[in-house]
Amino acid sequence: MTTLPAPTLLTPQTLPAPLLTGRDFLSNLDMSPAELRGVLDTAASMKRGEWRGVKPLAGLSLALVFEKASLRTRTTFDVGMYQLGGHAITLSNQEIGLGKRERVSDVARNLERWVDGVMGRVYLQQTLHELADHADIPVINGLSDMLHPVQLLADYQTVEEELGTAQGKRVVYIGDGNNLANSHIHMAQLSGSSLTVVTPVGYEPNGGVVQGALKAGADVTLTNDLGAIDGADVLYTDVWISMGQEAEADIRRRAFQGYQVTPQMLERLAPHGIFLHCLPAHYGEETVPEATEHPKSRVFDQAENRLHAQKALLYHLMGALKPRW
Ligand code: CP
Ligand code: NVA
Repeated sequence: MTTLPAPTLLTPQTLPAPLLTGRDFLSNLDMSPAELRGVLDTAASMKRGEWRGVKPLAGLSLALVFEKASLRTRTTFDVGMYQLGGHAITLSNQEIGLGKRERVSDVARNLERWVDGVMGRVYLQQTLHELADHADIPVINGLSDMLHPVQLLADYQTVEEELGTAQGKRVVYIGDGNNLANSHIHMAQLSGSSLTVVTPVGYEPNGGVVQGALKAGADVTLTNDLGAIDGADVLYTDVWISMGQEAEADIRRRAFQGYQVTPQMLERLAPHGIFLHCLPAHYGEETVPEATEHPKSRVFDQAENRLHAQKALLYHLMGALKPRW
């Protein structure tokens, strides 16, 4: 058994300066490359146990607003706030009826009077912008139709753990050009990874996101050719039928035939290559249990990193805020 060295514990005096005070995090592009570096360094330090005992969010509360289901996002934000000394309150849509029982802008104007930040998992990215426009506290995107930026923080933490750096590494995203694919493009732009998005015709990622990344000089390629997988450093997939797309299930299952990530496909990666999936997996569709349980799979480390990466994000957004009561 290897014994890890005891972590050097941080104290309130030795914490890094919060980098994103009071900012919204609706997209990965709400951070600069240097800020991303700072957040990922904090996440790694938290994972090493160096933050044990410091409670930088003591007295602060975060509202978790859900229009859709969640395991990872809900649990990790809640546990993350607790571990940082703060408090989380989960509000399901049955309770608050975002945009139905009450206008989104009024929900925002109420929440900002009581809590110090809001995490929203919503159908429309526009809902997050509306929350952010009407609440003078940080609003965090916990997944929308368009983006899933907190997921990508954990994903890149995992890539760095496995490959040292993401810069110049060949990341292949295969499947639906959905919220995950769009956020991958943002991260290629921020991190300098080399991203290929492989989709069937008609399921490409958002055109505006792609154009923005190319204009910014990102190394992003779109293709329908599965040959892109050969020699990849990272292979990533996500469900073919996202939450809210259930009515299109049959059409989508047909469109994505041949795009399933199998153990045979994983043999085509670089020898050190890894397989990632944000989970939940729809086994029998975009992948199979033999792939998520394959030696190249890091999907459960990736899920663990949701906790570390989001704690780092919360610290940098809220660590300089003072309790208002
Ligand atoms: N990956 C992810 O966001 O998981 P949940 O939908 O369970 O939160
Ligand atoms: N694309 C999926 C991701 C789930 C974490 C969805 O939006 O349902």
